[in-house]
Amino acid sequence: MPGCQQAFVAGVAAGAHYEELPLGRRYSVYNRQFVRCLVRILLLSDIHSNLEALEACLSAAPAYDRVVNLGDVVGYGGSPNEVIDRAKQLGNYFVRGNHDKAAAGLMELSDFNPIAGMAALWTQRQLTPENLEWLRTLPQGPIRFPDVPDVQFVHGSPIDEDDYVVTLRDALEPLMAFSVTLTFFGHTHLQGGFSLNEKASDTFRPAYRTVGQAEFCNWRLAKDHHYLINPGSVGQPRDGDWRAAFAVFDSDALAVTFHRTPYNLKSAQDRILDANLPQRLASRLAAGR
Ligand SMILES: [Fe+2]
Repeated sequence: MPGCQQAFVAGVAAGAHYEELPLGRRYSVYNRQFVRCLVRILLLSDIHSNLEALEACLSAAPAYDRVVNLGDVVGYGGSPNEVIDRAKQLGNYFVRGNHDKAAAGLMELSDFNPIAGMAALWTQRQLTPENLEWLRTLPQGPIRFPDVPDVQFVHGSPIDEDDYVVTLRDALEPLMAFSVTLTFFGHTHLQGGFSLNEKASDTFRPAYRTVGQAEFCNWRLAKDHHYLINPGSVGQPRDGDWRAAFAVFDSDALAVTFHRTPYNLKSAQDRILDANLPQRLASRLAAGR
C-alpha cells in the first residue's frame, strides 16, 4: 500500500487529524476523501570531503523526512572515506557530481585546474575499494520521486550535469526547457535560486545578518513559477560566506529554507594540510571563495 494511502487509513482509524508514522514522516489527514504527503527534504550539495562541515549541517538541520545529495561528495577536502561513510548513513538519494566522477576514474582530469586534479588523484588513492565502487555507481541526474511530483534533482543543470548555472542568463534555458516546475541543483557552490513565469524572471540570494552565527532565510515559492534552486555548498562555499550551507524544501508549505552554520574550520583545514594537499584548499575555506 502506498505510504499516503496507508497513512490515510491509519489516520482515519485513529480518528486523528495528523498521524505520526515511523521514519520521521508526518502525514496529514484533512478529511476522509483527501490526504496529502508532507515531505521535508534536506538538500545537501558539494560536501567535498569536508566532514566537519557535514556534521555541523546535520546538527543544525531542522526535522526532515529525506536527504537528497546533489553531488560532489568528495574532492578538495581531507576526509573522503569518512564523508562517504556518513553520507551513506543518510539514505540512498544521490546524483553524481563531476568530482565524484573524477575520483571514480569516470572522466578525464583535463577539464580540472591543477589543484582540483591533484585533489582528485589524491582522493582516488585514499578511497577504500567499497567507496570507490560506490562512487562509480552514483546515478547521473536528474532524479525524481513519485511522492514529490514536479520536482527534480541534478548536479549542474537538467540539460547537462556538468553545466554551471551561475547567472539568471544561465538559468533561463533550463527553466524554459522543462515542464518540471522545481529543479534543485548544485555545482556552483552559490546558495540561492532563479525563478521564471510568463511575466518575469528573477534571482534570489538569501540575506543574512551575521557572518559567524547559525542563521536561516525563508523563500516562499509561487505556484505559477518555475524555479532552479541551489542549497549552496556544505564543504566549500564560494559566495564569500565561510559557513557551511544547506537547505530544506517543504513540499506542503511550498517553501525553501536556506541555512548557514559555522563549523570547525580549523579541523577541516588541518586535515587538508596533514594530507599534503595544496595549502590553497585550506585557506579558501576561511574566505568562502
Ligand atoms: Fe563542487
